[in-house]
Parts: sequence; C-alpha cells; structure tokens
Amino acid sequence: MLVCDCNDVEYDVIKESVKKHGNDIEAIKDATDAGTTCECCLEEDCDKVDLPLPLAIKRALSEL
Ligand code: FES
Repeated sequence: MLVCDCNDVEYDVIKESVKKHGNDIEAIKDATDAGTTCECCLEEDCDKVDLPLPLAIKRALSEL
C-alpha cells in the first residue's frame, strides 16, 4: 500500500518506523523520506497515494 508516491514509500516501511518513533511524524519523515518532496501525502485527502502519511501512522499505531 503506497504512502508516498514521490519517494516510493510503502505502508510496511512506515509501520516499521512507527515501531521505533511512535507518532513522531518528523522523525518518521527523516527516517523514511515520506512526505519530503511534494508534501501531498502529508494531507489526509492526498489522491496520489493509497494511504497518506498521517493516516498510515494512525493505522500503524492501532496495529502495533
Ligand atoms: S507523495 Fe509524498 S512527498 Fe510527494
């Protein structure tokens, strides 16, 4: 499931990062590069991706 189109980041990568960084979005951006280019995927209504970063973090927190 794609979370960031610009940097080709999949949900599994975000989930691993959330294990380490919790809901610290800045740390997750630094670690994965998600959301660091066009920034569309930082918005919950971004239509370039399957699951924008804020929603991916929420889902990961609920699954861990
Ligand atoms: S889609 Fe994530 S930075 Fe562009």
